Amino acid sequence: MNTDTIPEDGEPPAPSPVSPSALSSATEAAPASGQHAPDSPGATHIRSFVHRRGHITQGQRDALERLLAQWSIPYAARILDPASVFGRTAPTILEIGFGMGETTERIALDRPGDNFLGVEVFNAGVGSMLKRIEASGLQNVRIVQHDAVEVLRDMIAPSSLDGVHIYFPDPWPKKRHHKRRLIQPPFVALLASRVKPGGYVHCATDWEHYAQQMLEVLGAEPQLRNTADGYAPRPEFRPQTKFETRGLRLGHGVWDLMFKRAA
Ligand SMILES: C[S@@+](CC[C@H](N)C(=O)[O-])C[C@H]1O[C@@H](n2cnc3c(N)ncnc32)[C@H](O)[C@@H]1O
Repeated sequence: MNTDTIPEDGEPPAPSPVSPSALSSATEAAPASGQHAPDSPGATHIRSFVHRRGHITQGQRDALERLLAQWSIPYAARILDPASVFGRTAPTILEIGFGMGETTERIALDRPGDNFLGVEVFNAGVGSMLKRIEASGLQNVRIVQHDAVEVLRDMIAPSSLDGVHIYFPDPWPKKRHHKRRLIQPPFVALLASRVKPGGYVHCATDWEHYAQQMLEVLGAEPQLRNTADGYAPRPEFRPQTKFETRGLRLGHGVWDLMFKRAA
């Protein structure tokens, strides 16, 4: 869901623009297992984010205007064909909530053989990611600017993802807001159903209470197996993020969780 109107500049896209044909016409009526009670008119589940008019730089705005059409896939209730979206067949990793995209960029550069589908709602973040794609010449990242719950439910085929990254999701620290946390049983059931047998779900947080919730919820999901005895060591491929650095500065710990979809 775009939070602002993004003007188009009519500039022809350079390499492999995402075409509407990347979206299969075979609509799958995905189960609404990520749904909760509505929290606002028209919503089908409690959102893990709130729309707010955050600061956006001129560079991010400019990147949105010039590059969004080239590197993003509009949300639609149709299953995506990753081979068509990325122009090749390769392992597909979904990242939920990439923020300003620094981790996505680092990992996508380090793993050129993988395709990364980043989902983010925040305009400044999407603008920042687009700038990174342009500056680094990344070819293996595409963006969907929409609620990840709906993207997973409506656009991702069952048993299709090789991995999922969820790094430092909003912790919603107040008890009355815990219902907004992304990692809840119905969402995790939906998420696990989209991962291939043997594929992984990697989460990290700097909020101990949320880490415990993640361990409990991921551990209780029958489709998933913990690869560690409790929390996992930070894998080599995950660099330290801005949020992590801030958390560490505030004296918080950081907890990684690495689960695999059972065969
Ligand atoms: C705390 S930030 C972390 C960003 C980044 N992963 C990092 O480690 O720096 C969480 C991000 O998740 C995004 N987000 C939250 N709920 C989302 C949802 N349902 N769909 C897509 N993005 C979401 C927010 O907009 C925010 O940018």
